[in-house]
Amino acid sequence: MKRRHFLKVSTLAIGASVLGTNESLANMASNAPATAGDANDSAPLINSKPMLQNFAETSIGVAFSVSALANGFVVYGKKKDLSDGKKVWCGGYRIMDMNDQVMQVRLTGLEPATTYYYRIGANRMHYGGGYDMKILETVEDDVIYSFKTAGRDAQSHFCVINDTHAHFDSFDLLTEKICQLAPSCVVWNGDGCNAEDTFEEQKEIFLYPPIKHRDYASQMPYLLCPGNHDGRGKANRHLEKTWMFRQPEERSSRDWDLGRNFAVRLGDIALVGLDTAEDKLDSNPAFANLYNSHAYREAQAAWLKDALDRPEIKNAQYIVALCHTPLYDSDSKHNPGDVAPADYDPRYDTDYAMWQRTCKELWSPLLEKAGCKLLICAHTHEFRVDKPSKDHSWTQVVGAGPDLDSGVTEHQPAVIDVRLNGGKLHIDVHNVVQNKIIYSLDI
Ligand SMILES: [Fe+2]
Ligand SMILES: [Fe+2]
Repeated sequence: MKRRHFLKVSTLAIGASVLGTNESLANMASNAPATAGDANDSAPLINSKPMLQNFAETSIGVAFSVSALANGFVVYGKKKDLSDGKKVWCGGYRIMDMNDQVMQVRLTGLEPATTYYYRIGANRMHYGGGYDMKILETVEDDVIYSFKTAGRDAQSHFCVINDTHAHFDSFDLLTEKICQLAPSCVVWNGDGCNAEDTFEEQKEIFLYPPIKHRDYASQMPYLLCPGNHDGRGKANRHLEKTWMFRQPEERSSRDWDLGRNFAVRLGDIALVGLDTAEDKLDSNPAFANLYNSHAYREAQAAWLKDALDRPEIKNAQYIVALCHTPLYDSDSKHNPGDVAPADYDPRYDTDYAMWQRTCKELWSPLLEKAGCKLLICAHTHEFRVDKPSKDHSWTQVVGAGPDLDSGVTEHQPAVIDVRLNGGKLHIDVHNVVQNKIIYSLDI
């Protein structure tokens, strides 16, 4: 095996920090994408750190960027030196994957709340036709990372970020704060994107962001509740090429197209992720018949009903739901997202949804019946908390925006930290510009 050490460091990341960030490593690895092309041997084949995606009890996804045609793999095991390592290649049965953008490997059959170690690698491929294929080289990362799966015995602690919109200066501060807080996982609550047309732009957002902690998701697992912007733009219409769906066997055949919804047990907390989809109606002419949000929301209601009935979710001490667009707004001028046919109504300030009445009517009765006490949303770029009322029995926390320069505290980027503390669900909202907690709540 020909090995080329693309990171040119031998230091193991294990134990470096909770995110595994190693300063020398972070400084050495360039985030600049290399040119794609199977004969381009001068550029490093693997040009990002691995990202842990779609965290779960018995499975996890590993994604990383490549600069040329490749077939990637992950070696994982329970031993720090990977002497017990198993190799899993990207792609499924029969034909394995070969592409020049992103390698996606889904590890399945894992044990809950268990620490695993892993290393990434890839074959650089020559493709001259269906009978003219060969491996040009095999590269393996020198760094061994680790992760811990979800489960009843995992730490009851997670963080939420939202509406980063490719503001890398904000993202830098958010990931720094997450590194300090050391949760079990992070939920990216939508609008990581704007309207990306190229996979290079999309990869910069998720796989090689120009921030200090370039390995921000190599040991810290992420979940995604997509926002309205995450489906806009030619590349974002296929976000799953960069941020993979879960495996088909992780959901029922009825839910075949619900690759992102999650119901994950994290200690005494059950995390339930939903996708509010677009903030404009499918009938809006601006969308040219290219979106199908309504049927998607209805399909998620059927999924949600079953997910909330799963024993490990139903029996959790706390159920926390997450979705991008709020499910409640007390301001009567805020558009509820159901103004047919084109979202305009003089009663409302905006011609797009500030909250989602349709999703609330579909999902809230199920969440209330299951005893969900906390809903975490985003989208408005303004932090607020809506307490339970006659309208709903859950507390709604709405995350802040990406604007570092805003003089308004509620608009500045923040990490929502949620953990079990003294038998209660404790929430701290960390403003990362002022570096202080701006709100705390016990439920
Ligand atoms: Fe946003
Ligand atoms: Fe949004």
